[in-house]
Amino acid sequence: MNTVLNAAAHADVPPPRFVPGPPGTHITIRGLTKYFAGWPLYENFDLDIPKGKIVSVFGPNGCGKSTLINMIAGLVPIDRGEILFDGKSLKETKIGYVFQNYREALFPWKRTIDNIAYPLLLEGRSKAEVDRRMDELVASFDVKFDLKRYPYELSGGQQQTASIMRALAPRPEVLFLDEPFSALDFEMTLFIREKLQEVFMQTGTTMLLVSHDLEEAVYLADEILLLTKRPTRVAEILAYDDARPRTVETLSQASFVAAKKLSLEIFQREVRR
Ligand SMILES: Nc1ncnc2c1ncn2[C@@H]1O[C@H](COP(=O)(O)OP(=O)(O)OP(=O)(O)O)[C@@H](O)[C@H]1O
Ligand SMILES: [Mg+2]
Repeated sequence: MNTVLNAAAHADVPPPRFVPGPPGTHITIRGLTKYFAGWPLYENFDLDIPKGKIVSVFGPNGCGKSTLINMIAGLVPIDRGEILFDGKSLKETKIGYVFQNYREALFPWKRTIDNIAYPLLLEGRSKAEVDRRMDELVASFDVKFDLKRYPYELSGGQQQTASIMRALAPRPEVLFLDEPFSALDFEMTLFIREKLQEVFMQTGTTMLLVSHDLEEAVYLADEILLLTKRPTRVAEILAYDDARPRTVETLSQASFVAAKKLSLEIFQREVRR
């Protein structure tokens, strides 16, 4: 009897209504809640991430930038909430992830080429398909080093290039990058940044990039997502829509300087709060 009553009572309570994002939204995050050791990091956090854009995530140390992208990518479990990709679950979505620490990201016992092809083999692709995709990747990255070498035989920049190629190999709908340049020297950073921008212009893959370098965050972004200190909220989302490819000249353009200045002001306001 009670069971019937309870079921009837439940039937009267409508499920929380899902509020879609504006047109062009790719990822919708609703009511995201995450606690670590009893302390809230995110509480009822909502966010819309646009499709086919690069969103740079920037915010105070320890505010949860990595945790945010890791929750979206399914690497860190969430306590509550919903994350959908074009209305689909993560399971139905193809994603790629580039880790900060390239040294631990590639399999040391596999040649570089086999590392890059690995996700394609997991997908069950035929040898012909894998070879075709590898040729495309090598061409679009203009790879000058020998992919038959093992990762430890490559420079850091070459390893990170290989990591990005591996992440892109299966043509992910979303690419996550957590400080992908922070362990690289300046020359390599510039090189890979340009490659990433080229690939983005070719593919239009939605990218979520965490960067601790504000200039880089703005330079690569269509949107800069500025976060507060924890419990973390969106401080502001700034649009930055200068034409691509962005170049050294971009850095001195008034629109770039203004976007960087505004981002810095918001960041400082949040750090001092
Ligand atoms: N597994 C965990 N267990 C407990 N606390 C955690 C865990 N992972 C992250 N945290 C805490 O959550 C907060 C956010 O961590 P996160 O690494 O996401 O921040 P971040 O913004 O990426 O930091 P950084 O700027 O240092 O890269 C930090 O206070 C961190 O100590
Ligand atoms: Mg981090």
